[in-house]
Amino acid sequence: MAILVDKNTKVLVVGITGREGTNHTKAMQAFGTQVVAGVTPGKGGIVHEGVKVYNSVVEAQADAEVDCSIIFVPPAGAADAVLESAHAGVPLIVLITEGVPTVDMMRAVQEVKYLDEESRERGGKGVRLIGGNCPGLVSSGESKIGIMPNRIFETKGRVGLISRSGTLTYEAAKLLGDAGVGTSTTVGIGGDPVIGTTFVDVLPMFEADPETDAIVLIGEIGGADEEAAAEYIKNHMRKPVVAFISGRTAPAGKRMGHAGAIIMGNVGTAESKLTAMKDANVPVADTMPQIVELIQQALTQRA
Ligand code: COA
Repeated sequence: MAILVDKNTKVLVVGITGREGTNHTKAMQAFGTQVVAGVTPGKGGIVHEGVKVYNSVVEAQADAEVDCSIIFVPPAGAADAVLESAHAGVPLIVLITEGVPTVDMMRAVQEVKYLDEESRERGGKGVRLIGGNCPGLVSSGESKIGIMPNRIFETKGRVGLISRSGTLTYEAAKLLGDAGVGTSTTVGIGGDPVIGTTFVDVLPMFEADPETDAIVLIGEIGGADEEAAAEYIKNHMRKPVVAFISGRTAPAGKRMGHAGAIIMGNVGTAESKLTAMKDANVPVADTMPQIVELIQQALTQRA
């Protein structure tokens, strides 16, 4: 199944009747994803894009037993929508929304963590949040729970992809596909300062996944997640990892990029991330096409 999702994953679309909820429900269905229910308060009872709509996640969950929620609720209500799914016992929640207030995300991420621990203590599946401000995740050829273009994820490969950037995820997947390498599972973790799942959460899943032989990690300037990932790789990973760090040519003092791309003093700079990767023996591509070259070398060495 690669990691987190496969062809059997049953998906609930929260905000299904909105503009993006509608468009991406159609695209996910075309990919082969099992969209089994939708939620829009006040629209319960209708059928939209062939999918039954409910007024709340609890109602949908009681009827459809979903494995995953994907959320297309506008920023002001998005964190509450995450918690609605988490409290209803949905084990995997993907938050696509961009521009959710950071203070809302701090509360939601903390509460999801608490609910995850509580569920696991009771022998349940736990609760995991991916995003926000992310493109979602896809197990190539099986199930897409996100907004990435379908055609570049149709063929299965054996490289796991984790990224903070949506568009660079698509570019890397296209390059890997064109080179005949291909992706197993791709996880867009999101570009916000407070997110539910980080590189360090996903790396051990790929390490344990029999369908993944190597990993591409696409980071960017700001925050310290890449440094933490490098430390984790150094101490725990046996499978090869190749990295790309974007924003290396960003002019100092300019505001640009993701909300999470904040440099604080010397923390979060491109230099600190490159040094950390070098220290962990992780080859870093200078350009996107070079990712393919480095991953092919890594796969040959592993073979
Ligand atoms: N539960 C379920 N549905 C809810 C809700 C809740 N708590 N609160 C609101 N909604 C519904 C609304 O009623 C609306 O449906 P309706 O139009 O049938 O009434 C729907 O959610 C939102 O639809 P709409 O107003 O058309 O918004 P949209 O689809 O144009 O945009 C987002 C919503 C989330 C996609 C947009 O805010 C956004 O974040 N876009 C950027 C996404 C992005 O680029 N992410 C990063 C990728 S790398």
